[in-house]
Formats: sequence, structure tokens, C-alpha cells
Amino acid sequence: MTVTIVVGAQWGDEGKGKVIDYYAKNADYIVRFQGGNNAGHTIQVGDDVFKFHILPSGIIRPDKTVIIGNGVVIDPKVLLDELSELKSRGVPIAKVLISDRANVIMPYHKLQDSAEENAEGDAKIGTTGRGIGPTYTDKTNRHGIRIGDLIDDELLMGKLENIVPAKERLLRSLGKNAEFSVRDIFEEYRGFGRELHDHIMDSSVVLNQAIMANADILFEGAQGAQLDVDYGTYPYVTSSNTIAGNACVGSGIGPTHIDEVIGVVKAYTTRVGKGPFPTEQDNETGELIRKKGNEFGTTTGRPRRCGWLDMVILRTACRLNGLTGLAITRLDVLGGVSKLLACHSYMYNSDKLVNFPGNLRILEMCKPQYHELPGWDELQKEEWREIAKKGYDALPENLKKYLEYIENDCKTPVKIISIGPGREDTIMQN
Ligand code: IMP
Repeated sequence: MTVTIVVGAQWGDEGKGKVIDYYAKNADYIVRFQGGNNAGHTIQVGDDVFKFHILPSGIIRPDKTVIIGNGVVIDPKVLLDELSELKSRGVPIAKVLISDRANVIMPYHKLQDSAEENAEGDAKIGTTGRGIGPTYTDKTNRHGIRIGDLIDDELLMGKLENIVPAKERLLRSLGKNAEFSVRDIFEEYRGFGRELHDHIMDSSVVLNQAIMANADILFEGAQGAQLDVDYGTYPYVTSSNTIAGNACVGSGIGPTHIDEVIGVVKAYTTRVGKGPFPTEQDNETGELIRKKGNEFGTTTGRPRRCGWLDMVILRTACRLNGLTGLAITRLDVLGGVSKLLACHSYMYNSDKLVNFPGNLRILEMCKPQYHELPGWDELQKEEWREIAKKGYDALPENLKKYLEYIENDCKTPVKIISIGPGREDTIMQN
């Protein structure tokens, strides 16, 4: 039995979907523990491309059980749409369990998200606009509606009668004249509850029973360490804890069960939304990476900001998550870039910083210090696939040096090397 957590080590979009899919092969349960449909995973199986926002990636493996844990915020309409799309494409799916304690993204949360962003003016976060922040806020201020409430008419109506007028007042104060019908929301969300009824349960109980029965469990993180609400570039972060420790809280298991924590690292760095990004290349290099890597958001389609690899960020991710291994993705994208830079530290005035600072004003004044590494040739998709078949030794020598540099600096072994989008474009290291 192994309990493994896979998390993003940067600002999300590291290619976790593929890595999770790889681990999902041997897992009995695949569990999401935080975030919501702000996340986006793309998985390629043969010529078929699947995009998920709320469903765990293991969904397309029919012999598995996927769990949406209590730490996730759920837009039930998005969840039902994803399920029915899979059905209409004739894809056999895993068994789906949803924690009765997961909070629900309500229509007023989405309006609140955009109204608050607009009110921020220049200080906008650049959220995905999916209502994630307001839903987590309501969870902690104890005004949340939980998935389990959708199958209890009395409870749901009672909560809506209290919450909706207060939300209308709040939205008016933010310049949005929204009027909701409590009855309409009740009918719509009760309907969602009926459709999801058989999936809703105390998933913590199921998960702990599975652990006791020696099942293999995989936790699927969303976003990345730099978007963590405590440790990321606050306030330019998402509203949940994205780091591995939250896998326990967000699913209802104890930390003593965790065996492995894998950090997924893109071979360069990207970020969507606003906020500091020390190694950003807002120039031809960034443009080149964006083009070659097709760096546009899965969820919002926004162009991603691109830059060099940042070891300060990776070291931080190792520390915060207690990583036991790294999965390096998109190394093929860097092919053809003759000179690669990796930031090893920041200069803040005359101080050398090797840890990511918590103070954003300091961070903005930091100047990245780079180590130069030689690049490798651009190869065709088929050539990368041939290399993947042959294994590690067949990789370009300079690519191996790049991996060794990362491994030595992070003091964490590289366990997965991804050199293309397909399941087969992967090299595993023991
Ligand atoms: P929110 O999660 O929609 O509240 O957005 C807060 C910040 O997190 C914004 O900068 C988003 O662009 C970013 N964000 C949220 N989810 C993801 C993700 O899955 N990948 C990358 N960035 C994300």
C-alpha cells in the first residue's frame, strides 16, 4: 500500500494532470483535496484530449474510485456537465464519491468574485472568476452551503433564506444590483443534489477504510505552492492551501498515512493572473516559450506569463511540501533554446536571498541571479518518443546536466522526466 500526494511546485499549470494520470494507473483511489474548477487538467490518451476542471484526473480509469474531498469547493453544474460530457463521448468512468462536507459555489459567489475584482482596480488579483475566493471565505466565516445540504430540503431552504438577502446587500455595496429568488436557487440546487445524491457521502470514512484495507491512494493537488494562501505570493494567490499538508485536512485522513510526496516542476516557469514573478521574461524569450509550449490557460484561455526556471521557488516547494521526489515536465519545449538560465538566488539590495521572501515589496525589489546552462537541440515529437522508449541514457547530454543541476540544488531525486504530452513520452527513474 502506498499513499502518494502529487502537488504543483510553482504557480500551477506544471503538467500535474499527466503525472497524476501516470500514478493513477497503480492507485485504487484518486482524491482531490482543495481548489475547485479554477484548476484545469489536460490529459492526452492516444489522440483523445480530455480537459477537466473539477473531476479528479483518474476519472477516465473505470476500475478506480475518485473522491472529491471536503476541502474542495464545488460548482455542481460544472461537475454535472463534466460527467455528462464523458458519458456522451462514451468514456467509461471511475466510481465518483463526493464529500458531504465540501462547500458549494453558489451563483452569488461568482458575482461576488467579479464584483470584488472590479472594485480592486489596479490591485486586482486576476482570479479565474469562478467564485473560488468568496466560497472559501463563506466556508470559514460559517455561511457556507455544503454539498450535503443540497439533499436536505429544510436545511438548504433555511440557509438560503438567511444568506441570500445578506449577499444581495453585499453585492449592492459593490455596485452590483443583483436580485436573487430564494425559491429559484433552492429549486435549482435541490435539483443538483438529487442528481448527485448517490455520490454524496462521508468520504473520510471511505478513505480511511480503504487505507486500513491496504489500498493505494493518490492525492491530486491543484494549483501550485506559489499560489498557496499562506506561503504563496500573498495576496496574489488562490484561497486554499495548495501544499501537501492540506491533503490530510481536505480529505479527512491523518498525516501518519502519507508515504510519498511528488512535486511537479515545469522545466521553465509560468504564471497566470497578476502578482510578482522574479524570473519573468516579458520579451522575445518569454514569447518563444509561450509559443513553443502553447502556454495558454486550460480554464480561462489566458496567455500565461513565461520565464526561466527559479530554484529559489523549487527549494521552497521542497521545504513546504516535504517532497520525496520531483517530476520535471515539458523539457521538450526548451529544445532549441541554445542558452538556458536558472535563477539560484535573489539579490535584495546587497543581501543574497536563497529563500522566497514573504514580503511582496521586498520580492519586487529582488534581482534574480542566474546560472547559465547549455541547451539541447529541438527535436520532433517522434524523436522524443523514441528517446522515451530507450530511457534515460538516450536523453541529450545537456538535458541530463539540466536535470542533475535541479536534483543537486533541491537535494531531491528526479523520479519522472516528461518529454512530450502523451502517456508514452515519459521516463521513470527509480
Ligand atoms: P482564484 O483561484 O480563481 O481565486 O484565482 C487566484 C489566483 O490563482 C489567480 O492568479 C489565478 O490565475 C490563479 N490560479 C487559480 N487556479 C489556477 C490554476 O489551476 N493554475 C494556475 N493559476 C491558477
